[in-house]
Amino acid sequence: MVAKLIDGKAIAAEVRQAVKARIDERRRKNLRLPGLAVVLVGQDPASEIYVRNKVMACEEAGVISHSYTLSDDTTEAQLLDLIDKLNGDSTIDGILVQFPLPEHINADMVTEHILPDKDVDGFHACNIGRLAQRRPSLRPCTPHGIITLLEHVEETFYGREAVVVGASNIVGRPMNLELLLAGCTVTTCHRFTHHLEEHVARADILVVAVGKPGVVKGEWVKPGATVIDVGINRLENGRLVGDIEFDAACQRAAWITPVPGGVGPMTVATLLQNTLYATEELHS
Ligand code: GUN
Repeated sequence: MVAKLIDGKAIAAEVRQAVKARIDERRRKNLRLPGLAVVLVGQDPASEIYVRNKVMACEEAGVISHSYTLSDDTTEAQLLDLIDKLNGDSTIDGILVQFPLPEHINADMVTEHILPDKDVDGFHACNIGRLAQRRPSLRPCTPHGIITLLEHVEETFYGREAVVVGASNIVGRPMNLELLLAGCTVTTCHRFTHHLEEHVARADILVVAVGKPGVVKGEWVKPGATVIDVGINRLENGRLVGDIEFDAACQRAAWITPVPGGVGPMTVATLLQNTLYATEELHS
């Protein structure tokens, strides 16, 4: 078997186009356009690129973006003050504070300070709790974007064995909740998991989000599986690779995401969907 590629770039473009069409319609009806505040603290080069991509995607879709670029000596109190101001601003539907934050700022405190109805990252305990209780509101972008990718290739989620490798707050844990909500039987593997290969070998749907190249061997993949690689790792030779041995996994999987061009573009597309959802459903 040679796996077919799941084209995240094309699927993300469809999502962005659909968001743009709805925003165009709001403009025609003289309705308020969605507003997103994007906050960057410090000068992490990767974060600067992510934030620039998010702002550009907003402009293309018709979301009004408001950028706040703060120096890395910004205090936690100053950042919380800015969030208070944005929480109270009725033109702002979503607030995104890019992570990682400088070490002197408590990221959990910042996450919990954003109003749940403006938390377009879906990281607030309220939004995670709602997802866990099967009444989702704003959902974490990368896991929800992965569900959108899977909907393009899976006939059904009900009763399928899903295995998530990685248990981070941003991807692994909410991915578990999304797959459970969709009807899968879900296993989450993490640094203390024994016999990782035995879990991986059971997966009809495999999602790997660890951040280590080659952490999942291609030969472990179940024949016919759908394989989602969330990792983006730069090798010493400059090449970008995921967490899964891609060439070997392609010999066994039915569907696989490439890196780059798989999961990455879905995060930004889902952020736009979330911002529009906040405008239409939470702030109308
Ligand atoms: N840093 C890495 N991924 C993300 C994300 O999805 N949202 C935010 N705010 N920061 C990140």
